[in-house]
Amino acid sequence: MLLIPDHAKQTLSDECDLRDRDQPHSPNPDASRGKTIVRAKGLVKVLGSGANELKVLKGIDLELKAGELTLLMGPSGSGKTTLLSILGCILTPTSGTLEIAGESTADLGPEGLADLRRRHVGFVFQSYNLFPTLNATQNILLALDLCGISGPEASECAVRALGEVGLTHRANAYPGQMSGGEKQRVAIARALAGSPSVILADEPTAALDSENGKAVMALLSEVAKDPSRAVLAVTHDHRTLAYADRIIQIEDGRIVSDERPTPAPEPESIGHAPEGKGGHERRQRWSCL
Ligand SMILES: Nc1ncnc2c1ncn2[C@@H]1O[C@H](COP(=O)(O)OP(=O)(O)O)[C@@H](O)[C@H]1O
Ligand SMILES: [Mg+2]
Repeated sequence: MLLIPDHAKQTLSDECDLRDRDQPHSPNPDASRGKTIVRAKGLVKVLGSGANELKVLKGIDLELKAGELTLLMGPSGSGKTTLLSILGCILTPTSGTLEIAGESTADLGPEGLADLRRRHVGFVFQSYNLFPTLNATQNILLALDLCGISGPEASECAVRALGEVGLTHRANAYPGQMSGGEKQRVAIARALAGSPSVILADEPTAALDSENGKAVMALLSEVAKDPSRAVLAVTHDHRTLAYADRIIQIEDGRIVSDERPTPAPEPESIGHAPEGKGGHERRQRWSCL
């Protein structure tokens, strides 16, 4: 019989924990690259009733792939927020089907949907939705607590998430002490902390100036490189298009276009293209197309 000393067991256990946390959805990240994370078919949503009844979504078919940042664009009132709310299991469709990370929502009641949402979905909102009386770390810990993660594991997740968005040095700052860009990065860290399969961001740059808006979109583009995660972001800002793997246009409740950007011009020649690791990798990828 193989005898493993206690301290070695602990080390093994710690390593397993770390592996699990680093690769929460697949033991082999490359195996899940391009995997369908969200699969929606024939989504219809009717809101209001009687004379105020409105068919907001008119049959949406959509698959979101792991490792991709998809931008959702369209006029105000075209159904973007409604679609995000359904994909994030906040709203249920009037008809149509939805699978998140391979789990169907068809037979789920409110509690089942909330559980699926907690395990698989991270939200980022235009207005950050941070609690003003909690600092950056505490905002993240609160969200983790709601997901059933607490204690040292939660603290590790919070530290890691703040590190991922480059805000380790602001861990103890309160929202009132942060810039808009920093607040949105904390909100992204909060969305990331529970290792969701999909991040849904509703106009995450709308309240930010141009530079901060680009920085947030660059961050989401980095976040989307995780081969076990899909990111869908609503945006009106055409300056953020350079960060997209895919751009979907919605009008009057229907998808009217779904494109992957053609090879981008060299960022140097367009002035304000993504910089840093993400931009470099994307440039390399596009140059191979
Ligand atoms: N709770 C509601 N009841 C009735 N109509 C709604 C409700 N929420 C949104 N709508 C309508 O649905 C349409 C789509 O809204 P929304 O999804 O918020 O669009 P977008 O995010 O693209 O601006 C709009 O015409 C809006 O007025
Ligand atoms: Mg909206």
